[in-house]
Amino acid sequence: MLKKNIAKLIAILLIIPIILSLSGCSQKTELEKKESKLTSIKKTGKIIIGTSADFPPYEFHKEINNKDEIVGFDISIAKEIAKDIGVKLEIKDMNFDGLLAALQAGKIDFVIAGMNPTEERKKKVDFSKVYYTTVQGIIVRAEDKDKIKSLEDLKDKIIGVQKGSIQEKIAKKQITGSKIKAIGKVSDLILQLKNNKIDALIVEESVGKAYISKNKDLKLLDIKIKAEDDGFAVAVKKGNTDLLEAINNTLDRLINDKSIEKFIIEATELAENK
Ligand code: ARG
Repeated sequence: MLKKNIAKLIAILLIIPIILSLSGCSQKTELEKKESKLTSIKKTGKIIIGTSADFPPYEFHKEINNKDEIVGFDISIAKEIAKDIGVKLEIKDMNFDGLLAALQAGKIDFVIAGMNPTEERKKKVDFSKVYYTTVQGIIVRAEDKDKIKSLEDLKDKIIGVQKGSIQEKIAKKQITGSKIKAIGKVSDLILQLKNNKIDALIVEESVGKAYISKNKDLKLLDIKIKAEDDGFAVAVKKGNTDLLEAINNTLDRLINDKSIEKFIIEATELAENK
């Protein structure tokens, strides 16, 4: 009887360290899983970004040597991030309002799309430091420019905004009494404006400038609208801290050596075809 009990005790004592080491072990793999984003990107040899390439000079389609390519300021930055990590860059072009869901689902590794790191978005994803700031603008048909002197004059008009953008919020909050039409691509909103389907379009002023340089029948209003947040940042899936750190390191480098300024000039020239 006594012998049996001693045997049991020994068995238990032997099992405890095994259990402890097992649980310790599984904790470690959990940790490894969390830290492995950058490692897994390096292993596959490519990094996949998501963007909405309707947003010159930040990201837009351009025919280069008879080939359709996605270029722009954000794309130049993304290329530098890929270069610093030592992998190839793959670009997925989608509607702006689908980007964060694609990121959360792990279909893309980061989002760079002239995106403002709003409090609401921060609940879903993590953001890098702000790499650029802009102001808001309103595009209208050239013949309407002089008729619209204030936001008040936009009452009863149809205002176009990109679906899921901060401009959609701005329109709803600041231009009361107007009808708001939210659609997926800014390029389609431009067509709608030209075809009298909408009367005004809210976008970042720099994007407005890029479009009006190509469309002489459109003009930017002199009215300024205030946004809560005018800075652009890169988004990663929550918890991808090592990737975020790598992105911030590249951004630091590009800000410090003034590449950011150079990229924006190059992209603007490319967008306006000078
Ligand atoms: N800055 C605005 C936002 O974050 C609009 C960005 C739209 N970007 C684009 N690539 N279409 O909501």
